[in-house]
Amino acid sequence: MVNFLIFGPPGSGKGTQSVRLAEKFNLVHLSTGDMLRAEISAGTELGKKMSSIMAKGELVPDEVVIEMIAARIDKTKGSAGFLFDGFPRTVAQTVALEKMLNDRGMKIDSMLVLDVEHDELVNRLILRAEQSGRPDDKDPAVIENRIDVYRSKTEPIIDYCRQKGLYQPVNGMGTIDDIFVRLCDQMKKLI
Ligand code: AP5
Ligand code: MG
Repeated sequence: MVNFLIFGPPGSGKGTQSVRLAEKFNLVHLSTGDMLRAEISAGTELGKKMSSIMAKGELVPDEVVIEMIAARIDKTKGSAGFLFDGFPRTVAQTVALEKMLNDRGMKIDSMLVLDVEHDELVNRLILRAEQSGRPDDKDPAVIENRIDVYRSKTEPIIDYCRQKGLYQPVNGMGTIDDIFVRLCDQMKKLI
C-alpha cells in the first residue's frame, strides 16, 4: 500500500484532483469534508452538531474526524493505498493517522501540497458557491476564515512532514488537466 496526503488550502483543488487520481492509481479517496457533509445530508445527530462549525469555517474537533477515518481504514481491501483529502488538518490529527497506519503495518508515503495564490483560491470558491451552493462558500468572510484557519492550524503539518522527508510541493495554478499531470508525475515515482 502506498498512502498519500493531498494537501493545500481551501479551493486548491484537493477534491477535484483526488477523484481523478484515485481512479487512475486505484487508491481509496477519503475526504473528511465529504464524510461530514454526508452526515449533514443524512440528518444524523453528528451532522447536526458539526454543521454550524463547518458553516463558520472552523475545524470540527480532532476526535470526530479521527474516528471517521479509523472506521473507514479497516473496511478497505484490494486497493493500492489511500489518498487522504482534507485530513489531517492539525498536527494532532497527523500523529493519530501515523499511529493508525503504523498499527496496520503502513505509513504516510508522501504529502503532495498544492500551491495556489490567495486570490485564485477565493475566486474558485466564489464561483463554486454560485454552482453548487456549499454554505461555507457563500460568505466571503467565511472563505477568508477558512484560509486563515488553514494557515494557522493546518499549515504547521507541512514542517512536521518536511522533517520526515514527505513534503512534495506541486504547482496548483493552471488548468485542472495540467495540475493532474504534475501530480501524476510525482505519484508515479512511488507507485
Ligand atoms: P473540506 O471539505 O475539506 O473543504 P476545504 O478544505 O475548505 O476545501 P475545499 O473542499 O473547499 O477545496 P478543495 O481543495 O477540495 O478544492 P476543490 O477541488 O473542491 O472541509 C470543509 C469543512 O469541514 C472544514 O472547514 C471543517 O469545518 C470541516 N472539516 C473537514 N475535514 C476536517 C478535518 N480533518 N478536521 C477538522 N475539520 C474538518 O476545488 C474548488 C473549486 O475550484 C471547485 O469548484 C473546482 O471545480 C474548482 N477548481 C479546481 N481546480 C481548478 C483549477 N485548476 N482551475 C479552476 N478551477 C478549479
Ligand atoms: Mg475538498
